[in-house]
Amino acid sequence: MTQSNETTRRWLRRAGSARLEFGADYNPDQWPREVWDDDVRAMRAAGVTVVSLAIFSWARLEPRDGVYDFAWLDEVMDLLHAGGIAVDLATATASPPPWLTRKHPEILPVTRTGETLWPGGRQHWRPTSPVFREHALRLVRELATRYADHPALVAWHVNNELGCHNVYDFSDDAAAAFRRWLRARYGTVEALNRAWATAFWAQRYDDFEEVLPPRLAASYPNPTQQLDFKRFSSDALKDHLIAERDLLRRFTPDVPVTTNFMVMGETKGMNFADWAAEIDFVSNDHYVLPGPQARDELSFSANLTGNIAGGRPWFLMEHSTSAVNWQPVNVAKKPGELERDSLTHVAHGADAVCFFQWRQSRAGAEKYHSAMLPHAGTDSDLFRNVTRLGERLRELAPVAGSHRTRAAVGIVFDWESWWVSEHDSHPTERLRYRQEALDWYTALLDAGIRADVLPAGGPLEEYRVLIAPILHVVPAALADRLRDWVTGGGHLVTTYFSGIVDENDHVWLGGYPGALRELLGIRIEEFGPLLDHESAELDNGTTGTIWTDRIDVAGDDVEVLARYKTGDQAERAAVTRRRAGAGSAAYVSTRLGPEGIGVLLPGLLGPAGVRGELPAELGGRVELAVRGEHWFLINRTDEPVDLGALPGAGILPPRGVTVISRE
Ligand code: GAL
Repeated sequence: MTQSNETTRRWLRRAGSARLEFGADYNPDQWPREVWDDDVRAMRAAGVTVVSLAIFSWARLEPRDGVYDFAWLDEVMDLLHAGGIAVDLATATASPPPWLTRKHPEILPVTRTGETLWPGGRQHWRPTSPVFREHALRLVRELATRYADHPALVAWHVNNELGCHNVYDFSDDAAAAFRRWLRARYGTVEALNRAWATAFWAQRYDDFEEVLPPRLAASYPNPTQQLDFKRFSSDALKDHLIAERDLLRRFTPDVPVTTNFMVMGETKGMNFADWAAEIDFVSNDHYVLPGPQARDELSFSANLTGNIAGGRPWFLMEHSTSAVNWQPVNVAKKPGELERDSLTHVAHGADAVCFFQWRQSRAGAEKYHSAMLPHAGTDSDLFRNVTRLGERLRELAPVAGSHRTRAAVGIVFDWESWWVSEHDSHPTERLRYRQEALDWYTALLDAGIRADVLPAGGPLEEYRVLIAPILHVVPAALADRLRDWVTGGGHLVTTYFSGIVDENDHVWLGGYPGALRELLGIRIEEFGPLLDHESAELDNGTTGTIWTDRIDVAGDDVEVLARYKTGDQAERAAVTRRRAGAGSAAYVSTRLGPEGIGVLLPGLLGPAGVRGELPAELGGRVELAVRGEHWFLINRTDEPVDLGALPGAGILPPRGVTVISRE
């Protein structure tokens, strides 16, 4: 079944047939005028179709308060249009100019320890500053009115990576806005006191005016205050997005609005699942993080982005052609990785493959960050690879517009569980929410089983199996929803530290895993976190780390799939499954890593009848992603893979990707 029956969302405003877009951030203002013509020529040679323009151009566009200089941008827009290149025009509000911060230092963000983040880098603005908002919107209005009818303009790019550096601001503006947000959420200070459990440590508030952001405190700040501050901070940035979007829609209702999310790695402050409805199409930036699961993490992020977009096509706004500049050691991509990484995004629904940035900077903090056109120039392997990628994307034009095809297995990804499960003063600091979810994803890839990574607010009921790793925050409504789905035939798998608290971070009483206890048919009186040097062996040959639980099995309908062999829980159940109505609910009480999870998978997926869609011999070596009739086969290895078992598929080169058509 192909996802999403809703009407297609808006995409770039342009005529012509469907295609996969190809391009980059373009920063011509970093270069002398004579370079611009070369740029357009080389863009055409590479097959570039679209660029994101003026992202960091505020100081050039408005060199003095209220004084604008658009002449250079007019020229660039015209030049690009003449070259057949479309423009995703930024609102240029990401980095405020020096005159603004000199005149209004009160727009600068403040850390939780009270330090000001000064200008000199970028994104030094408070999401809640009315002064910043006023100046930003003034610029947006100028841009919107000036370029509304420009034929190169195909989309608006609000700000840039909202929250990349300024998600948590503890300033007085933030404090005032936090109080307004809390009033709207709770209505009365009594309700806030209940939600925040302020009877604890004499934290009772008599008035909203007494409430502060969780600034550096003498000891652990109130956990619900921390959770609400995270919700508020994500909302404050979303509010900025909405403010710019509303203005753009007022002046250019026919131009779609997007902003680039950062669904990648440990970037967790922005609840992108909650932002997606605010824009015309989802865009994402992704950078590969080195490590054994680097490739799988890319696939995981692309998959989640595709599901945040409701299965519709989305826009890969940034990734890198080769090395980045912001890791401790910045390694170039290996042969084949550029194309494989790009096409993995396409496989998961991207209809645009763009990079940071077009021409590698000569100076500035990002001069060692790769680009489409490197320091070496067009006579370089990198530029030739980029050009080949452009050709490949043109060949794949028939894929454009196709929606993701839903898998039988879903991995639930919940921002609030991510936030809360990693809070301080918990049974362990070692727990990593996203890593656990990624481990399940890797294990499924290793087993040749396609899965969707989807937000908790997504269409959970559409799946035969749901894996909900560390689903820590379970409000009553979610517990009811999962129970109904399970008894109706769904197969749930959840893990340690799930079902523990409600939406206020209050523990569900009566034994863990609280909200899911009855569904799972187990009861836990005490957690058993493991010290760093400890592990626990299970009788199925796997080894657990980080966590164990003291599980009591509650009824006959619960099967013990694995027991602890060593450690404090020896003899006790480690993995359980309860038959419930037409479905089942399984619990995994320790961190097993991808290999250990792989041992459990047949037993967990068997009852749901889920099997790999690829011939068994390909499972593990090849990732399958499906967009309608288009099957993407992605080589996960550095060796060639013979796809002989699939008619017409041939040999998949090391790190290669092939796309076949299957009705
Ligand atoms: C992104 C940002 C780009 C560039 C890139 C480098 O966070 O949006 O402007 O800095 O990272 O990887």
